[in-house]
Amino acid sequence: MPALEMSQVRKVYGSDDQQVVALHDVDLTVDDDEMLILVGPSGSGKTTLLTVAGALLRPTSGSIKVGGTEITDLDDRQLARFRRDQVGFVFQSVNLVPFLTARENLLVVRQFGDAKVDARAKKRADQLLDELGLGGRGHSLPSQLSGGQKQRVAIGRALMNEPPLVLVDEPTSALDSELGKQVMDLLRREIKDRGVSAIVVTHDERVLDYGDRRVRIVDGILSSAPDAAAAGATSHP
Ligand SMILES: Nc1ncnc2c1ncn2[C@@H]1O[C@H](COP(=O)(O)OP(=O)(O)O)[C@@H](O)[C@H]1O
Ligand SMILES: [Mg+2]
Repeated sequence: MPALEMSQVRKVYGSDDQQVVALHDVDLTVDDDEMLILVGPSGSGKTTLLTVAGALLRPTSGSIKVGGTEITDLDDRQLARFRRDQVGFVFQSVNLVPFLTARENLLVVRQFGDAKVDARAKKRADQLLDELGLGGRGHSLPSQLSGGQKQRVAIGRALMNEPPLVLVDEPTSALDSELGKQVMDLLRREIKDRGVSAIVVTHDERVLDYGDRRVRIVDGILSSAPDAAAAGATSHP
């Protein structure tokens, strides 16, 4: 069963007089264990696609199945549970809670809904921090961490609840090349070791090679980008 199946998904922002069609009847399937790279320029609809795929926003129309469940049919309570258990988000802005430590930023996502922070959750948080090279930084506040470290905390948080699908928005946009590469190496390893499916959104050509498949988006319309050249990478040798 595919991890994600979007069919004829349309997202229109705004009201009658000022409408923006951010997604035009998008069809997209992400297979089980697949890491898909979604590449496109700024304003092309990448963040919107992630937000509707992860049920943070409802589409204007269309069908979205995650792990076989039609999420557009869920009510608000079911959606809250779905977001907690079925998807991990890494937001472009990282969005760590500034007054919580790195470890607490992982544990906090256990507390949404009816889950709780038990010994198992703490062990998992510590293990993730270790894997992400943050073993010694669990008690640091975000303000005490570098950009790359914060990005890694955000990756740990997205994986904390063991979601089958991870949605990652422009993970390298705030990082220099070396850090960007480190973060992508870690992200790919975590995704592949866990056998989770992922969409990684980017307009950074350095990220293209990390995926199993690339899809291009322009003005809310998808097209396949079979290789890095088609995605525009060769114009920046
Ligand atoms: N909340 C919103 N209200 C109105 N328009 C929006 C909103 N969010 C995004 N848009 C518009 O939708 C289009 C796609 O935006 P977005 O998904 O953020 O693109 P990307 O992530 O590729 O930069 C853009 O034209 C943007 O201005
Ligand atoms: Mg965006």
